[in-house]
Amino acid sequence: MITSMKKKVYIETMGCQMNKLDSELVACHLKACGYEICDALPEAEVVIFNTCSVRQHAEEKVISKIGQLKKEHQQRPQLVVAVIGCMAQRLGQQLLDDYRQVDIVCGPGQLHHFSSMLAEVLDRRRQMLSLNDPQETDNLEILDSKRDTEEMDRPFSAFVRVMRGCNKYCHYCVVPYVRGPEQSRPIRHIVAETRRLAENGVKEITLLGQTVNSYRFKEGGKTWGLADVLSQIHDIEGLERIRFVTSYPRDFDERILRAMADLPRVCEYLHIPAQSGSNRILKAMNRNYSVEAYLDLIEKARELVPGITIAGDFIVGYCGETDADFLATKELMRKVRYKNCFIFKYSPRPGTRAAAKMADDVPEVIKKQRNTELLALQNEIAFEDNQKLVGLPVEILVEGASKKPHLDSTEEVAEADAECTINYYEAKNSDTIQLTGRTRGDQIAVFNGSSKLIGQIVKLKIVKASALTLFGEMQ
Ligand code: 5AD
Repeated sequence: MITSMKKKVYIETMGCQMNKLDSELVACHLKACGYEICDALPEAEVVIFNTCSVRQHAEEKVISKIGQLKKEHQQRPQLVVAVIGCMAQRLGQQLLDDYRQVDIVCGPGQLHHFSSMLAEVLDRRRQMLSLNDPQETDNLEILDSKRDTEEMDRPFSAFVRVMRGCNKYCHYCVVPYVRGPEQSRPIRHIVAETRRLAENGVKEITLLGQTVNSYRFKEGGKTWGLADVLSQIHDIEGLERIRFVTSYPRDFDERILRAMADLPRVCEYLHIPAQSGSNRILKAMNRNYSVEAYLDLIEKARELVPGITIAGDFIVGYCGETDADFLATKELMRKVRYKNCFIFKYSPRPGTRAAAKMADDVPEVIKKQRNTELLALQNEIAFEDNQKLVGLPVEILVEGASKKPHLDSTEEVAEADAECTINYYEAKNSDTIQLTGRTRGDQIAVFNGSSKLIGQIVKLKIVKASALTLFGEMQ
């Protein structure tokens, strides 16, 4: 019997922007294969968890979600459960063995096989596993080139992958093991994808790489770097904003900063995690730069790119971190004056060097305390700096209605944001809602306006500011 009913797929995404992009690409691919994407798990016939392995907490959440599906699976044996992304790669067969309700496990480098795996599972009801194959590099393009812009959630803003993987091997970090080695995409593919997106109305492009400034592509005796990517996509018609994340503080080519200064569509924003402000800890983390070198780079960035905003990440309670090391981290935070920081308590990850060789010797209470202290300092700095913006005009790209803070955040940041009076403005009438968007410097701004403005760039005057949110009025 032929049925015209499309199978419904529910996708839940954890973790980084790379995962968000992967989920979007998988969703587009599945739609092209005749599935329907839905936003409620109970009505789905296929449930996909796109997972993160960077901290233990992220993995625990997925395990609990999978656990919750056990009963659902018994009641609805036809339900297909798929675990994709970094945790799928890390745990592999073990996930299939431990959780019979899981049907598919697929690593982040194998997602171009996902739709055929799903078809096979629906047909034969057997468990399937696909893990990254380091030899398979050509296939990585298949998924990225399959995006259908008509189906995008935010048709005005898109991620474009410039590279995959990581070779840095920071001792705490699981990424090189689950995402594989650095592989840069051919520059012409990046340009072609960006052009296609812009032709379909995308105004803002965020170039993605785990260490995006490490982008290197060799062809015809020439080596292309990130600065070349920025200049090659810059003049594509329709594009208004270009960003790139995340930068690694070493091997940061000054040409990138010059490109930011010279190319008006490249936003004045860097996400460049320091992780610690202590040279001793940076060494123990295998970060391969000193605090002094990091500060020199930030100074150079501020000198070459006026008005640049800097965001960062810090890990507190890393193996052997003393009070003095932590004080040095606070000192660095004071010197840099970040726009925002993601702050994490160290969590040992199986397979990493730190987990194997170093004692996780900072007690949990101290980790918590340092986390809270550092966050409080960051909020103080951001609050002070944001007050200087009150009265000034900013340009924001409107992203949507602001029902809750729009942050790709840790709980810590979300908690801090809950303090700010996000509903400062009550909607005055039914045409006007509170909208949220971002400035060129990636600051969140809210204001009252018509939902027709979603996807547009509007000028606001800032009338109030908290540590994480600017409150504006339309000019
Ligand atoms: N424990 C805690 N935080 C970590 N990060 C990476 N690995 C760990 C770990 N084992 C943080 C880093 C990185 C961010 C994505 O996650 O700060 O920049």
